[in-house]
Amino acid sequence: MSLTPIGEPRHKITTASLREQKLSHEPISCLTAYDYATARLVDDASVEMILVGDSLAQTMLGYENTLSVTVDEMLHHVKAVRRGTKNALLLADMPYGSYQVDANDALRNATRFVKEGGAEVVKIEGGEKRADLIRRIIDAEIPVAGHIGLTPQSVNVMGGYKVQGKDLSGIEQLMRDAVALDRAGVACLYLEGIPREVAAMITAEVSAPTIGIGAGPECDGQVLVFHDIMNLTFGPPAKFVRRYGDAAALITNAVQAFRADVKSLRYPSDEESYHLPRETKAGLDTVLARKRAMGR
Ligand code: KIV
Repeated sequence: MSLTPIGEPRHKITTASLREQKLSHEPISCLTAYDYATARLVDDASVEMILVGDSLAQTMLGYENTLSVTVDEMLHHVKAVRRGTKNALLLADMPYGSYQVDANDALRNATRFVKEGGAEVVKIEGGEKRADLIRRIIDAEIPVAGHIGLTPQSVNVMGGYKVQGKDLSGIEQLMRDAVALDRAGVACLYLEGIPREVAAMITAEVSAPTIGIGAGPECDGQVLVFHDIMNLTFGPPAKFVRRYGDAAALITNAVQAFRADVKSLRYPSDEESYHLPRETKAGLDTVLARKRAMGR
């Protein structure tokens, strides 16, 4: 097992190198990013995959759920992340409504994510019922990531954000979904909100790398939402979220300190101000002194 040390220069991650990582049991890391600066930081930290998730509907745009975000809104973020990403594999979520209506429409939208956004893989939610569509998109030379289990775009059908695959029929369905998408040729398979035992079975069964979120440690890789790990979500975290930083506290402290400095005239200081060139200042002083002497 060869782990890439953090900060070391590394190779461009591709769908092929992800498969090699699965085969060599080198865990795959994935984080969401929605803007240029975050993408640069995540990419510089050698995270292998950056996902412009439709979770940006909530984290960046303040929508109630992921259902409202549009292709154009997603593309705006994908383009920014593209500019900040060098080595990581760049994936973009196809938002709700962009692939469910008809296959031609789906193909057109997937093409936009590649052509306009610079995404290398598009992600589609849903199991075996998406297999034909996924084949069609792959036929158009666009790698596809599958996403099964708790699929947030199905929130109204699921009746909430509920862990999936908790009974035998649910497990059978998930296995069928995973195998169907694997056969369709997905580049990787996101497993969200399922028992670790089921994720382990799927991971052993399929040739595509599995990337888990709330799916236990046996997946080939793990993904978390950047805003979750940085405490930027304004709510209690889900069970699987681990907080690695407190950006909310950092930002709040900085903003309060700025405000206090403005109110107390401690900001800006003389060093933080621009100054006239010496000769201009001397000339100005002379003019002002003359005006004062003339009583103006
Ligand atoms: O939108 C998203 O961030 C996702 C991940 C949670 C997998 O789909």
